[in-house]
Amino acid sequence: MPSPSLQMPARPTGARIVAMGHYQPDQVVTNDDLVARGVDSNDEWIQSRVGIAERRFATTESVVDMAEGAASKAIANSGISVGEFDLVILATCTMLYPVPGGAAELASRLGINAPGAYDLNAACAGFAYAVNAASNAILTGQAHTVLVVGAEKLSDWIDYNDRTACIIFADGAGAAVITASDEMAIGPVVWGSSGENYGAITTNPDTHALIQDGQAVYRWATSTIADVGRQACEAAGVKPTDLAAFVPHQANLRIIELVAKKLGITGEGSKTAIARDIVTAGNTSSASIPLALSKMLERGEIPSGEPVLMIGFGAGLTYAGQVILAP
Ligand SMILES: CC(C)(COP(=O)(O)OP(=O)(O)OC[C@H]1O[C@@H](n2cnc3c(N)ncnc32)[C@H](O)[C@@H]1OP(=O)(O)O)[C@@H](O)C(=O)NCCC(=O)NCCS
Repeated sequence: MPSPSLQMPARPTGARIVAMGHYQPDQVVTNDDLVARGVDSNDEWIQSRVGIAERRFATTESVVDMAEGAASKAIANSGISVGEFDLVILATCTMLYPVPGGAAELASRLGINAPGAYDLNAACAGFAYAVNAASNAILTGQAHTVLVVGAEKLSDWIDYNDRTACIIFADGAGAAVITASDEMAIGPVVWGSSGENYGAITTNPDTHALIQDGQAVYRWATSTIADVGRQACEAAGVKPTDLAAFVPHQANLRIIELVAKKLGITGEGSKTAIARDIVTAGNTSSASIPLALSKMLERGEIPSGEPVLMIGFGAGLTYAGQVILAP
């Protein structure tokens, strides 16, 4: 008897991001505002060490509220009807409770009827993992139109007495609509983890506030992430110098500048736009890449169809990067 082989749906040739959208809360919190809230720091120290001038904190908004704000804009920008979506992935690590996840509620609020829906937690690498998950679902014929959202409310998870962590984190959301396509516009993921460093970013078991070993994270990111970028470019068949944009996780401006320099995409003659959204948005974990990319697209900084390198990295420690073609 022949070994059984199960039927699979027809597979499309490719997957692509067709539209994006973002949401930031109205409340601007400057470094001086943090000091006024009792943080033992100052504007000069924060700007010079992490590159953040201000960030946004939610007031009444939840993670799902911000996800909905970003997703509605991405869906409107795509021109695709909500009836066509068959999968919703919410990348987040800051839901207040693990159950229920936010993806099904998000879909219901948006009027998407009964899609596959799940939350994905790879911390600050979450959006890059989620784009890969969406692309794989499409390429195996198991989804056609996918909503991927990165949304975080890190202001619920900070302790103002911990000045090495509370100055960095912020709130926001970014979303992408990803569909089956005749062309391949989402390159292979290069991903990995460094679980032996799991303690470098963690949460206080009593207060649940985020705690980080800043120097360990800085050393790891600056020694690992440029190679991930190089490998992601190679896997997609593009050279770093061909990139129209580099949109890394907005962890820290010094890390962004160093990684861009190692990739050889800064300075005179470079055609690569570098995302520096952290200056006014802070570190919004899995929301930071779609937030920054959506703004760059809105400002017309990235021509449609040009290659863009995204790299997420953070707690776990986890990382993932891929080249996409701009919508
Ligand atoms: C967090 C980070 C900014 C701290 O900077 P650092 O230069 O490593 O600072 P250190 O922890 O060595 O502390 C240096 C001094 O600054 C002080 N300091 C720390 N945070 C401070 C703050 N917010 N304001 C003023 N001084 C501060 C320390 O107390 C220490 O003082 P001391 O020398 O008198 O003891 C830096 O390590 C960093 O950016 N790491 C990467 C973090 C990151 O990207 N996280 C996100 C990952 S997704």
